[in-house]
Amino acid sequence: MRVAVTGGAGYIGSHAVAELLTLGHQVTVIDDLSAGHAEAVPAATRFVRADIGDLVAMTTALDHHDAIIHFAGLLSVGGSMKDPRSYFQTNFIKGLVLLDAAKAAGVSRFIFSSTCATYGVPRGPLNEDHPKEPVNPYGVSKRAFEQVLEAYARIGQVRAIALRYFNAAGARRDGSLGEDHTHEEHLIPLAIDAAAGRRGPLTIYGDDYETPDGTCLRDYIHVDDLARAHVLALDAVERTEAPFTPINLGTGRGTSVREVIQSVERVTGTKVPHSVGPRRPGDPPALVAAPQRSLAILGFEPQVASIDEIVETAWKWRKAHPQGYSSER
Ligand code: UFG
Repeated sequence: MRVAVTGGAGYIGSHAVAELLTLGHQVTVIDDLSAGHAEAVPAATRFVRADIGDLVAMTTALDHHDAIIHFAGLLSVGGSMKDPRSYFQTNFIKGLVLLDAAKAAGVSRFIFSSTCATYGVPRGPLNEDHPKEPVNPYGVSKRAFEQVLEAYARIGQVRAIALRYFNAAGARRDGSLGEDHTHEEHLIPLAIDAAAGRRGPLTIYGDDYETPDGTCLRDYIHVDDLARAHVLALDAVERTEAPFTPINLGTGRGTSVREVIQSVERVTGTKVPHSVGPRRPGDPPALVAAPQRSLAILGFEPQVASIDEIVETAWKWRKAHPQGYSSER
């Protein structure tokens, strides 16, 4: 299949590109490199450096493709609280332009990188029918774009699957790709860097939640597993009952912040210096997927089973790339 991957130089996008190439697909990576890394784009792809909001560039780039996997976007919950407009501009308005280009180029198969942040504060099992009441602009922007996809799907312009990730984590198991964000906010890379002495002690954002050890529970899913699910979605999108289908990608297993710290300590053999601070605004106590639909529709089951395995891959990447991708230059 000829697949265009927006944001293919980013964290999850680059892992999906690697998986697509392994399975023999032809890949066009579309990325403006505002957050992605040229070093993460394999030579075996066609690389288009462009903004997804550029209609002419997108229409040209998408010509003769069978499908789009759309990762490009802004991804920080905290960032969206400070600058909501850019989240709506990038995740919503530029997404509309991409859909215009897809229509002009005749590409109707669309896989969208969505998030469990579309649900808001859990009020029961987090299956796909849970109410969508996002509590931050990031979640609103992703949910709004899902709704556009659903509307376009109803009139036959696209067939779409929105993959709602829980906590993407880890690095490619062969060590070739990893997580490299300019302003890192995610727990696992921060805990690893604290253990390695590359930054100060980690702050646990609250230990007075109603959870077994008082810290927040999250559902960490390995990035290689996420990547594989996208490739499965490319086929599934042609045979789903509805033309728009949202699917959770998680393991169904919750891991607390303290358990992540213990895992990093086991894997690195080093203590993670840390202290307990106040809660971070907008953090729900627990976000754990009800993952049944991903098995039913995609035939997807995560292969990386434990938090230690996830942390091991992240640690391997970080040891080899202490400065992220710039270590390769
Ligand atoms: N945490 C800390 N200290 C830190 C960083 C994080 O205690 O320095 C805690 C958070 O409070 C949270 C857990 O670790 O309980 C995980 O936090 P991350 O920032 O790694 O991830 P989030 O759960 O906040 O974010 C993820 C995805 C988002 C998605 C969001 C849904 O990264 O894209 O889940 O709420 F939108």
